[in-house]
Amino acid sequence: MELAPDDVEWVTCDSPVNIALIKYWGKRDEKLILPLNSSVSVTLNQEEVWEQSMKNARLQSVISQIKRLCRKRKIDGDQPNEKLQWKLHICSENNFPTAAGLASSAAGYACLVYALSKLYGVEGDISKIARLGSGSACRSIHGGFVIWNKGDAEDGEDSSTEQIAPETHWPELRVLILVVSDQTKHTASTVGMQTSVETSDLLHQRLQGVPKRIERIKKAILRKDFHSFAEITMKDSNQLHAVCLDTYPPISYLTDTSHHIMQLVHAINQDNSSNMVAYSFDAGPNAFLFMQEKDVPTVLDILHYFYPNSDPHFIRGIHVPGKHDTHVDYTAFSDIKVIPRALKFIIHTKPGPGPSVQESDNGLLTKDGLPK
Ligand code: DP6
Repeated sequence: MELAPDDVEWVTCDSPVNIALIKYWGKRDEKLILPLNSSVSVTLNQEEVWEQSMKNARLQSVISQIKRLCRKRKIDGDQPNEKLQWKLHICSENNFPTAAGLASSAAGYACLVYALSKLYGVEGDISKIARLGSGSACRSIHGGFVIWNKGDAEDGEDSSTEQIAPETHWPELRVLILVVSDQTKHTASTVGMQTSVETSDLLHQRLQGVPKRIERIKKAILRKDFHSFAEITMKDSNQLHAVCLDTYPPISYLTDTSHHIMQLVHAINQDNSSNMVAYSFDAGPNAFLFMQEKDVPTVLDILHYFYPNSDPHFIRGIHVPGKHDTHVDYTAFSDIKVIPRALKFIIHTKPGPGPSVQESDNGLLTKDGLPK
């Protein structure tokens, strides 16, 4: 059916990726997507792909929750019931290279929920709705440093997100996303964490230590104490992957290249006598490296040395002028192998804001509500 342009209302939004510093791994309620532990993340200045079948149960649950809030809303001049009859056309695009193979659908669901909330005029805590799409999506509703409190209530009402500090709090913090070449086909995080909850003793042991770790990383963020921030981040990433190996049958998201990156980061930190770089890995082999702006040229030089690559687009994102004068002494890394082209490319980014509405001229749908 053709739609008359006047019958169409549209909204275009973008939403960021987030990377967990203290990982979410395991649910206490599969349907409401309630976590077994609280988690902490940093929202990145980078958006992500999102593709989903309309039949997907989580997508349906997100749409019906938005409509429920819309139904509840009664404001003069507003006609929520008419809105409820609307037919939805959803189109999504990604400026985050699909080849990156980053597993999380966080940015996509955060974006969808944010866009729907604008379209239906819904207000309030939309991160709870984003959570129904994908647990980690609820953290992408805020910019900067974010905590997702697990909550204890059965209905999930007290499972909510909150910003620890805005993206402007630590302007020197930088992130390099190292996209590795040897991508493996990996277990989806939803399934992986379910098996871990059922079979890993270590996961249940981990839960005891998470609250203390969260307090420590919050303090490190607020004090901009990079050394502690790096140590807690790396230990938590390692613990997630230890839990994955403790899962039966075991899950391994990390490849030889991931392990090589970890070895290199520890060598850099040892040579520097304090932490200059931190790694974190989600449900895949790509590394997220954290560092301070002043150290980016040195770290890039080292990465170029160990992973030589002639691709002119090897480094993407925030521009760093070439020809650094960093004088790296490679004798400190003599037992580490050079592996040409082990990395596909690197994205250089930093903490960023939450979702936002874009000018409709840049929209993905035509005035008829169809994909361009
Ligand atoms: C390793 O949010 O993708 O990235 O809630 O089942 O959709 P579902 O899982 P998802 O899991 C993310 C797991 C993680 C850690 C994290 O982001 O905290």
